[in-house]
Formats: sequence, C-alpha cells, structure tokens
Amino acid sequence: MSELYLSCPPLADYVEEISEVAGYLWQKGWAECNGGNLSVDISHILEGHECRFEKEEHRGLDHTYSPLGGHYFLVTGSGYRFRDLARNVKDNACILRVDNDGSGYTIVWGGGNSPNFRPTSEFASHLSIHKLLLDRGSDERVVLHTHPTELIALTHFPEYKSESAINRALWGMLPEVKVIIPCGVGIVPYALPGSQKLAEGTIDAFNRGHSVILWEMHGCLATGKDAIEAFDQIDTLNKAAEILLLCRAAGQHPSGISEVQLKELVKAFNLKE
Ligand code: 13P
Ligand code: ZN
Repeated sequence: MSELYLSCPPLADYVEEISEVAGYLWQKGWAECNGGNLSVDISHILEGHECRFEKEEHRGLDHTYSPLGGHYFLVTGSGYRFRDLARNVKDNACILRVDNDGSGYTIVWGGGNSPNFRPTSEFASHLSIHKLLLDRGSDERVVLHTHPTELIALTHFPEYKSESAINRALWGMLPEVKVIIPCGVGIVPYALPGSQKLAEGTIDAFNRGHSVILWEMHGCLATGKDAIEAFDQIDTLNKAAEILLLCRAAGQHPSGISEVQLKELVKAFNLKE
C-alpha cells in the first residue's frame, strides 16, 4: 500500500471509489480515448492526518481562485484515460495543493513519473465549480465530466437546444429522471473545450439552479457528495436519452409522462420544482 494511504487511511476509500466510477464510465462507452475528467476536493479528509506526500512541483494558474487557497484536490491528468485510471489512480491522477493566494498549485502526489503531467485541460471549469460549491457551503466535493453518447446526440437536435424543451422530454421518459434531477439539466452553448468561456457558461448554468450540465455537442458535467452520486445523475439522464432515441428510431414520437403525472410525482416525492 502507498505510503500516503498509510498516513491517511480515509484517502484509500476515496481512491477506490474513483477507480470504480472510472471503470463504469469506460464500460458505458462514455470515456473514449482521454474523454472526461474528475476532481475531488479532499481537504476535509486530510484534516487531522500527517500526510506523507512525495513531491513538490509548482505551476501557475491563468486565473486566481483565492477562496480555494490551501485546498487539496485529487484531479485526473490531461490526456489520461479513464480506463487506465480504473486500474491505477496514482499514475493517471494527482493530488495538488492550491497556493494560499489561489494563483497556482503544487502537485504533491501522483502524476506517474511524467514531468509533463498536467491536471485536466478543463481545470478552469472544475476550479470555478469547486469555488461555487464552497461559496454555497455545499457538501458536494466531486466534479465529474464525461461524454455520454445519447445525451450528446440530443444536443444536436434543434428542438432540444432549449433547457425547457430537453428537460420536458427527459422527465417524460421515466419517473426516476424527475426524482433524481428535479431541477433539470442546464445547457451551455458550445464553447472551446478547456476555455474560460466554457467555465463561465457552466457557472451561469449552476446559478440557474441546475446540478447537472450539458455542454452542447461535447458532454455532461455533474457534481455530487461523492463520485457515485455524480455518476448516478448522469446515468439516469442518459437512460432517458436512450429511451427517447430508441422510440425515435422505432418511428415513434412519445408524448411521455404528462404534466399532471409529473405534478403527482413532485407531490409524492416532495421534490423541488
Ligand atoms: P483532459 O484529458 O484534458 O481531461 O480532456 C478531456 C476532455 O474531455 C476535455 O473536455
Ligand atoms: Zn470533454
């Protein structure tokens, strides 16, 4: 077992859960090549432990994230594969500590032996979301981005470019979708992967009340208390997208669960509207 896990046993459970979810993403076909990335604010689990980190590689950030100063993140590497992460977290992800003034970070563990290891190219989106979660006092610590095939397909349909239209269609496919994602999915119009514009559009979508976000013609992003919770939301939404596309392929245009039936669900499960 790694020296680090011995000095901070709760970390081993986190790493195991991340491997499990990475395996699901690969099995689902949502993680082609290096598609997708994940970050976890692990600061709370390191508290009270004298962690035996192994290295110190300092890098700057393009933006300053002052409120995240001193926070530790477990982050997947840019260009690394989820299918490899499932077998080996240490070589395909890293732990880093954000500088006290939020203007850079130091990699303290992982990243294999590669001097070129960098956190995900979507790090700007991840850090912006972690900052938002911290501002809100949320207990959500995980940000997961993946490329779920059927959900991406729907973002190519002109009729599903609006949040109201896509949510009405997805909620209509099976009751679980309204129960698990009562506030619906937010849509961010296409923007360059890894760009500040994509990060800002994502924050706007979170501020509209969504906890799962679709990046048009690119992928999906969710937050959760743990990686499983983030995965489950995307899995539920993608199941609805699969059903919708199956019906379409069979020549059907399903009207889905009615407004009255959705209202009944909201009442029965005491859901947010
Ligand atoms: P990274 O390999 O840099 O994480 O990029 C994958 C991706 O999905 C970009 O949106
Ligand atoms: Zn992506």
